[in-house]
Amino acid sequence: MCGIVGYIGNHLAIPITLKCLAALEYRGYDSAGLAYLDSGNMGVVKRVGKLENLNNFLKNKIIPASCAIGHTRWATHGKATVENAHPHTDANSVLSVVHNGIIENYDSIKKELKDKGIKFYSETDTEVFAKLLGYNLFSQNPDFDKYYAMHNSLHSTYKISKKHILKALNTTISQCNGTYAVAVLVKGYDDTIFFAKYKSPLILGKGQDENFLASDTPALLGVVSKFYSLKDGECGYIEKGKIVVCDENLKQTKPIFKKISVKPEQVMLGSFKHFMQKEIEQGAESVINTIDRIKKLGILERIPAQIFEKNFNLHITACGTALHAGMVAKYIIENQLRIPVFLDYASEFRYKEPLINAESICLFISQSGETADTLSCVELAKQKGATTIAFTNVPASRMESMVDYVIPTSAGPEIAVASTKAYLAQLGALYSLVDYIAKIRHITVNFNIDNVRLAALSNAKFNYDETLNEIVELIKNEESIYFVGRGLDYILAMEAALKLKEVSYIHCEALPAGELKHGSLALIKRDCVVIAILTQDDLVEKMLNNIHEINSRGAKVILFSPYADLEKFVSAHVLTPQVDNMLEPFAVMKPLQILAYKTALARNLDPDKPRNLAKSVTVE
Ligand code: F6R
Repeated sequence: MCGIVGYIGNHLAIPITLKCLAALEYRGYDSAGLAYLDSGNMGVVKRVGKLENLNNFLKNKIIPASCAIGHTRWATHGKATVENAHPHTDANSVLSVVHNGIIENYDSIKKELKDKGIKFYSETDTEVFAKLLGYNLFSQNPDFDKYYAMHNSLHSTYKISKKHILKALNTTISQCNGTYAVAVLVKGYDDTIFFAKYKSPLILGKGQDENFLASDTPALLGVVSKFYSLKDGECGYIEKGKIVVCDENLKQTKPIFKKISVKPEQVMLGSFKHFMQKEIEQGAESVINTIDRIKKLGILERIPAQIFEKNFNLHITACGTALHAGMVAKYIIENQLRIPVFLDYASEFRYKEPLINAESICLFISQSGETADTLSCVELAKQKGATTIAFTNVPASRMESMVDYVIPTSAGPEIAVASTKAYLAQLGALYSLVDYIAKIRHITVNFNIDNVRLAALSNAKFNYDETLNEIVELIKNEESIYFVGRGLDYILAMEAALKLKEVSYIHCEALPAGELKHGSLALIKRDCVVIAILTQDDLVEKMLNNIHEINSRGAKVILFSPYADLEKFVSAHVLTPQVDNMLEPFAVMKPLQILAYKTALARNLDPDKPRNLAKSVTVE
């Protein structure tokens, strides 16, 4: 959610900044902007919409700046307008700021600054940060006049010290509540980018005579090989040949740089048209890599068996698709291990005074490991003394650093906003944990973990293209589509509905098939589309009753099911592979994900960047 980049080195900073920003566009695409320093002058360029608009504007313009900061925005405070786009500047236009996070007390600070005569041009919290930093840096500084004079007379050699700038940055941070990763350019410092971080991600990239900062490692791929993930409270600056990191008391620290493990081809489209298409195809290998790596590295054995031997209460907390993976886990754990599971949306868990204590085991699922709602729940669980276990896909994420144990998913970088392969990898990791607990508690479960591999690969022999193309024609102009299923299939229906709605903008709603007659059947009318999922042997008869009820109202039922003989009861049937009942999620989800992808294309939408959304939701 918002991506920031900074570059200082010997090359032209603007093309490099734009290239790095492109790798962060998944974090927001409401607007893009950059600021640069060039021979004592500061330039700021911003455009509304995707990064390509900024790219097009800057094409053919050669600006000889070797220092720049850039931003790609997901709007939180204020609409997607040029005024609200980052970077933002202080009252004297001597500094510019890009920011990822939220300054919660921005309104009261804004009032105070307005009372001092400072004028604002945007609705953003970031402009408040920039104005406050400018105020702390200059208005409070007896040398301000000298500094200001310098900018009216470039021959002056007067400079405010870097120490003073860091102090002002620190003071500003202490006055702001909320979360931030900020990068700051200050006129007079053509060779320096200042930064600070609290709760929003920020990494530094070390190169040869050039240094970078960015919200995430994909931005640094192909430009540097080593990165340092800043800790909360750290601030500092980067120069061409120097990196200074300080703690919250401005005491210099010694950052330890790590090798970037992601390979450039992992974040490239290759022969695919969209990342969503590529990532759906990578679903099976993501599951297999996850299960194999957990086994090979003995990840589960790092969690002491005793915690699963004694009585415990188990909580699962996550958001969106990750929560849907958690729902599958709850179903399997309750059904197979007979252990009750409490499951909550992370955004709700925090505010309901959850029943957690030192006997609780809390599972948190997050592709990014950055989702603010889920992170707050981790914090809460830790305060209550619970054992915390995270399932994350992004190595070295904030969530990883917070929890007691990490069970990594190995889906590789997921770029498309809609999660597909990471969802399946999360299921792979969750099934591995269920298998581990079953062994510890001497319970025989109805699935063999080694068969997960087969279930994940089961789609390889199926070509869904023709059938799904016909179905897309049937649904692409619908306003509402209902998804129904029972038991495990209802949980899968929820995920299938989320996937289709977020990339096609068709209203989709998932309902337990048996619940229809208790109210929602009133919505089912002639020719409306109902997508039914049926994969469980013991539910065939009951589910068929529901399909008949829907048919009798004249609606069209599209069935996703491995049972071939049901074709006669529905308008269209996508025949899916038959695998162990408990492992069906690994088989049936792929065609449902492809359906969402193809429907987005049929509606001329970009499946990788659905409107209003971003990949890493770093605000609550
Ligand atoms: C939907 C989707 C989102 C995420 C949710 C949690 O396709 O991707 O619902 O699953 O925002 O994100 P993570 O897993 O990063 O915590």
